[in-house]
Amino acid sequence: MAGRIPSSFIDDLLNRVDIVDLVNQRIPLKKAGKDYQACCPFHDEKTPSFTVSRDKQFYHCFGCSAHGSAIGFLMDYDNMSFVEAIEELAHQAGVEVPREGGQNTGPDCRPLYAVLEQAAHYYTTQLRSHPQAHRAITYLKQRGLSGEIAKDFNIGYAPPGWDNLIKQQGKDTQALKQLREGGMTLESENRCYDRFRDRIMFPIRDHRGRTVGFGGRILGDEKPKYLNSPETPIFHKSRELYGLHEAHKALQKITRLLVVEGYMDVVALAQFGIRYAVATLGTATTPDHLERIFRTTPEVIFCFDGDRAGRDAGWKALNTALPLIREGREARFLFLPDGEDPDTLVRKEGKSAFEQRIQNATPLSQFLFDKLSEQVDMSSLDGRARLNELAKPLIAKLPHGTFKEMMDEHLNKLVGREARYVTNQPTTTNRAQKPGARQNSLQPMTPVRLAITLLLKQPELAQMPGLPTNWETLDKPGIGLLAELLHTIRENPSLASNKGALFERWRGRKEGQYLSRLANTELPTYDCSSEFKDALMHLQKQLGEQSQDQLLEQYRQGTITEAQYKERLRQLYPGK
Ligand code: GTP
Ligand code: MN
Repeated sequence: MAGRIPSSFIDDLLNRVDIVDLVNQRIPLKKAGKDYQACCPFHDEKTPSFTVSRDKQFYHCFGCSAHGSAIGFLMDYDNMSFVEAIEELAHQAGVEVPREGGQNTGPDCRPLYAVLEQAAHYYTTQLRSHPQAHRAITYLKQRGLSGEIAKDFNIGYAPPGWDNLIKQQGKDTQALKQLREGGMTLESENRCYDRFRDRIMFPIRDHRGRTVGFGGRILGDEKPKYLNSPETPIFHKSRELYGLHEAHKALQKITRLLVVEGYMDVVALAQFGIRYAVATLGTATTPDHLERIFRTTPEVIFCFDGDRAGRDAGWKALNTALPLIREGREARFLFLPDGEDPDTLVRKEGKSAFEQRIQNATPLSQFLFDKLSEQVDMSSLDGRARLNELAKPLIAKLPHGTFKEMMDEHLNKLVGREARYVTNQPTTTNRAQKPGARQNSLQPMTPVRLAITLLLKQPELAQMPGLPTNWETLDKPGIGLLAELLHTIRENPSLASNKGALFERWRGRKEGQYLSRLANTELPTYDCSSEFKDALMHLQKQLGEQSQDQLLEQYRQGTITEAQYKERLRQLYPGK
């Protein structure tokens, strides 16, 4: 792995390059006073609000707030990674990029790349020449793979036996060590043997086309079906995408990428002329995968099985994608009919029918709202309020911009105005109110506020039997006040019939003013007791969800085990 690039180098580099020249090479700039201007390349506009400052070596758009250094500009405009942008600038400046911790790089990975390249070569040769190779070829033929596509993807064969590769490439201890570091061998009781035996071999290439790992498929139905290279200094499953290099090779320009699940899917699609499919390596799509995808193309389509697991995987991918959906980027979702994967389907129906499916894939926005709407009863106010609560945190993950605003608008349309009032809005305090705002202007009617208002109107509600009790530890503004109010009335029943006395309890406290204001709020309610009970039920439900979220967080951070997580979840929902 390469060492870190020293920050002093980056400072010097940014002093050497001129951001005005850099930007001007890509979009013509006009001088405007001390600075330079153009129409912003990061959003649509007719009058220029994008300025570049030579003094500050900085660009800024007054329209969309895009801003940054020369490095940031290359990252955003040319879709480079941070390191790629630095390498580009260094190249222009005619300097080498130094790495911390030694010469030019950290530990030298070149021998590992060489070892994997040789292994890939060995496996492809074996597919042609090994005495057992006919079994592999028969298998590939039976799966419908053409010789041509096998060649394009460098598909090979690891013959049966414990030490074929070791005999071939492990001539001395140094070579053996490298085979092990490259993930090609296993050790057990001090004996070393080949990791991949009697398997079809799919070499995994990185973005520069270097072989960094392998996926190996068994010829029959035994388990494990696939064996993947382990993590090594040059292979990280969470970053690599199978087929991306091959897509680059086959296409002049990649206009979209289709993310599928399996090696065979990528290869079969390619054989049928869909050369823009990539697969994650048996893991969910990670942010690193998506960064790489969006550096390649602004359009990604996630393809999953139509079954439950596929839907869940799709939802996970959506969550990962949200923070990366900036203007101009698009993610869509394609769910296949039950029991099909891209491999089987493209063979059945051919290229154009499959591409038609891609064409009709569900936009992210639709998938998000459809999926959430299924979970609630959209015909009830409560259900729509719940939708609002579910969607808000997801939309919050989107970067600021037009798309986010549109999602917000759409949500507002879906849930309607009343439902928005029953949600998470912070209970207003006096401070939060703008000077001059009317006292009684419509404020978001949260369940907390609603409960307090009802209680002030009819304090005897506090004595209703069968009220939900499990909400007082909810972390929400106003909860403490609501609980205090409720307990005060219960402990002093006379207050129920004496509102004046009730308010006196809060004299001189800022909550007192707040209570007075709420007491003066008009409520369009007819059945106060059921409204009151509903509001408390709502809070109780929120507490359940909050606890569930906290548990999940604890589990993610490793403070509790999976077993503890499940057990506590059960305690939270004893019925289920
Ligand atoms: P076939 O069509 O049966 O060859 O496989 P596939 O490409 O359709 O794969 P499948 O949909 O079963 O699995 C998708 C991906 O998950 C595979 O390409 C592998 O990366 C991974 N995978 C599947 N089975 C295994 C396994 O047994 N072990 C490991 N480590 N990964 C697996
Ligand atoms: Mn398959």
